[in-house]
Amino acid sequence: MQAHGAYDAHRSLLPPAATMLIAEQKRRYRDDGYLVLPRFKSLQAIAALRERARQIVDAFEPAAGGAVFSTREQNADAWFLGSADSVRCFFEEDAFDATGQLRVDKALSINKIGHALHDRDAVFERFSRGPELAEVARALGIAEPLIWQSMYIFKQPGIGGEVRWHQDATFLHSEPVSVVGFWIALEDATVDNGCLWVAPGGHRGPLRQRFVRDGDTVRLVTLDDTPWPAPASARPLEVAAGTLVCLHGLLPHYSAPNRSPQSRHAYALHAIDGRSRWSHDNWLRRSDVPRGFVSDPD
Ligand code: FE2
Repeated sequence: MQAHGAYDAHRSLLPPAATMLIAEQKRRYRDDGYLVLPRFKSLQAIAALRERARQIVDAFEPAAGGAVFSTREQNADAWFLGSADSVRCFFEEDAFDATGQLRVDKALSINKIGHALHDRDAVFERFSRGPELAEVARALGIAEPLIWQSMYIFKQPGIGGEVRWHQDATFLHSEPVSVVGFWIALEDATVDNGCLWVAPGGHRGPLRQRFVRDGDTVRLVTLDDTPWPAPASARPLEVAAGTLVCLHGLLPHYSAPNRSPQSRHAYALHAIDGRSRWSHDNWLRRSDVPRGFVSDPD
């Protein structure tokens, strides 16, 4: 895995400037709750990941499960809960017509693949680990990163579903909250095709909800009634393919539906700091202990 572009080039060629760059980036992350690092992944690495995702979807037999993923309904079935430790496909909510038939080809109907790609697939494993991501995690203050979750998000043309305002710590809780999202654009993300929207500085607010699991049932529990940010305070993150966006676990963010003819593929990793205490009533349960960003097992 080889990152390229100004961020890495600056760091390796100009150490003093790189230190300032990272200090500025750290300040931005601390103040805004997010950080945008363009040209973090090479186009070749992205092409390899997209091809592997295409193969996974191609091999996916909907009869094997294929739950619809909805952030509106938070349906927790066995297909969803079992994905914590495996590689499973989920359909877009609007993929099916009234008779239950797919409206478009399967390859254009999948909402996402989750949630252990980084540990259960060799191509995704390579993309998800390496010194560049390890360095960013360290710079953001995650001393002992543990990657708990990975998602390949398709945001399909025309039917790509919205993801409403949320905080990632709702779904990946620890005490204290330490989760950071590493969101990588695999295609150019624009307002038209459903880019991320963030509320700069909103990570200084409280955690509003928790997604709590009890046995095989899950529910959203309200912790704090603080309203979601006003629409006018949301900022779109229009970024080019290859850009890494780091999101603080308390930062409110959302993405709108994709009604455009362009897909908006992205890959997201979520890591917590091993110094914090993983909440065992999180929905996500694994048979093994997650690893960090270094390529070899810890
Ligand atoms: Fe999120």
